[in-house]
Amino acid sequence: MQRIYLDNAATSWPKPNSVYEAVDAYQRANGAPAGRGGYHEATETQRLVSDARRRLAELIGAASPNNIVFAFNGTDALNIVLHGLLTGNDGHVVTTVAEHNSVLRPLRYWERTDGCEVTRVPCDASGVIDAGAIEAAIRPNTKLIAIVHGSNVTGAIQPCKAIGEIAKKRDIPFLVDAAQTLGRTPIQVDELHADFLAAPGHKGLHGPLGTGVLYVRDGLAERLQPFRLGGTGTQSDEDHQPDTMPEKLEAGNLNVPGIVGLRAGLIDLESKSLGEVRDREIELTARLLEGMRPHSNVSLFGPSTADERLGVVSFNIEGYDPREVADLLDSSYGIQCRAGIHCAPLMHAALGTLESGGTVRFSVGLETTDEEIRIALEAVAEIASA
Ligand SMILES: Cc1ncc(COP(=O)(O)O)c(C=O)c1O
Repeated sequence: MQRIYLDNAATSWPKPNSVYEAVDAYQRANGAPAGRGGYHEATETQRLVSDARRRLAELIGAASPNNIVFAFNGTDALNIVLHGLLTGNDGHVVTTVAEHNSVLRPLRYWERTDGCEVTRVPCDASGVIDAGAIEAAIRPNTKLIAIVHGSNVTGAIQPCKAIGEIAKKRDIPFLVDAAQTLGRTPIQVDELHADFLAAPGHKGLHGPLGTGVLYVRDGLAERLQPFRLGGTGTQSDEDHQPDTMPEKLEAGNLNVPGIVGLRAGLIDLESKSLGEVRDREIELTARLLEGMRPHSNVSLFGPSTADERLGVVSFNIEGYDPREVADLLDSSYGIQCRAGIHCAPLMHAALGTLESGGTVRFSVGLETTDEEIRIALEAVAEIASA
């Protein structure tokens, strides 16, 4: 049976060939660490890592490559900010019910241990957050606004630009979780007024698992207390973490095989137009929505039109547990997707799907073909009419 991969919201697959080749070539022929050693291979590794940093900075319009921190996944990038900014802080954070556990759990931790207060702004029936509700939730002691750019459950794209304007006007640091959007839609940090932007390297950027990136605006690294302390290959005679970026937030050896693969993913992305990548995602999503809508026993979640959402389509089939549907899709059709809560329990609570086991989620990628969408739609139709 053909493998039809519709779980790109978890991690993109397949990656471009150049990603596999770059990782393999680095591992076999180089293998040296970054920023530690003056021999030829170590210098070459450092060059590759710096080049990846430069390409990331360019992709999002960062002022300098030093605004980019390498992390180990999207969760790690978010934690660098959520721990770094909120340590010893009894302030207030505005976030939303649309967030992933990688934001919800660190915030709940600070609520429980440190007296931090958190407002979780509700969404509308399709999962969209109202920027006005974010503004209304701000208090005099609000220390951070943390928002997901695009939901991994409903695919809803949030009004981050409008929220960023509010944050900027009130001088409140603004953290954007771009896990589902970076590499899939054009993003400029200045347009969003993002002070921090966190994302995995292994989804829309097509790097390997184990990679993540964090953008930190100039002047804000000073407010972050690093939670990972250790060797940086710089200022090694000092007994404290360097204050310079990005070393301040990058203790220990970097995941160089991952970063080298991520760099190849970035080069591949540069050969495409991000506008076209986004158009293709809209086209595939529209076909999924249009193909499933006619079935009266299939419920769809999220915004009704494809251009308001990412390539993420959550659905349920009446009478079936979501996991049962995913198992059938896999075993009978070779279609791989994710069923359940998708690490976003408050989003499911808002949709009314928390108690019933969540939803089935199809998520498309750059390599998804029209034929794969046709097979997926046929499979849903068969299960729904059984
Ligand atoms: C919206 C959102 N935020 C954060 C994450 C966490 O990313 P990672 O799995 O790389 O830790 C995910 C992963 O699915 C996500 O969808």
